[in-house]
Amino acid sequence: RVPTVGIDIGGTKVMAGVVDADGNILEKLRAETPDKSKSPKVVEDTICELVLDLSDRHDVHAVGIGAAGWVDADRNRILFAPHLSWRNEPLRDRLAGRLAVPVLVDNDANSAAWAEWRFGAGRDEDHLVMITLGTGIGGAILEDGQVKRGKFGVAGEFGHMQVVPGGHRCPCGNRGCWEQYSSGNALVREAKELAAADSPVAYGIIEHVKGQIGDITGPMITELARQGDAMCIELLQDIGQWLGVGIANLAAALDPSCFVIGGGVSAADELLIGPARDAFKRQLTGRGYRPEARIVRAQLGPEAGMVGAADLARLVARRFRRAN
Ligand code: BGC
Ligand code: NA
Ligand code: ZN
Repeated sequence: RVPTVGIDIGGTKVMAGVVDADGNILEKLRAETPDKSKSPKVVEDTICELVLDLSDRHDVHAVGIGAAGWVDADRNRILFAPHLSWRNEPLRDRLAGRLAVPVLVDNDANSAAWAEWRFGAGRDEDHLVMITLGTGIGGAILEDGQVKRGKFGVAGEFGHMQVVPGGHRCPCGNRGCWEQYSSGNALVREAKELAAADSPVAYGIIEHVKGQIGDITGPMITELARQGDAMCIELLQDIGQWLGVGIANLAAALDPSCFVIGGGVSAADELLIGPARDAFKRQLTGRGYRPEARIVRAQLGPEAGMVGAADLARLVARRFRRAN
């Protein structure tokens, strides 16, 4: 029942924590994600520094990584990451060579789903779909306690389903991806656009950042919305509506009992999930003649990915101990 380290590497921040066998976080550190233009080595260095730091105070037996990228079927390589510099990067082998403990690598949304199923809002749910709203949209399908990975490891990339033909350009290469309409990036992009146009609806946030439009962040928009700022409330409504539309599509394809919404933007809670539920109800095919899935917020919030990665690493560490 030894603690393990979980690391969530998103498009903007890295969260590292020591987590015990019951999913409790014993200590947590944060760092900025190195810029996309930097080499993968820099991300590796960041991970190793965080693990070393935590190892000073904790007996670390395994490290789990939840990475914002497409992890191959062997859970070694990051094949591609829209928001990071990884391209066919053997992350697990690289880290295992540098850290003296077993390392597990999984997609960030997959590890978040695992945490919510083990300890959170989806406990014991046999058909769970996880959606994380951060820099992009992450997705995961968990059935009977198993993450569904597809043939090549990359199932659940919901964020890159096209919802608007010819829509906003996405770093994945396509246009109109769902995550261009319902994510932290989308939220910030819209707020900055309104502020740059000097729209009266944006006066509140312009004043808040003292005219420095580049300083606008997702958490700031959520905070202002909570304080009653009409534009920020409306932007979260827009994001929430797109979330509901996508969820209705996923219900048509996957028919889960429960959708768990996590990632940084989920901190907006009902300001986001209320509009998502409304749009889902309006958009669900066969509505009125079929059971409706629940839509709930991740109980572990933005920490789900980190906690899940740590817990998955625990299983690997156990296997490692048995084999040696
Ligand atoms: C990536 C996913 C990742 C998600 C959330 C998406 O753009 O394609 O792999 O899970 O962002 O970080
Ligand atoms: Na996934
Ligand atoms: Zn895309």
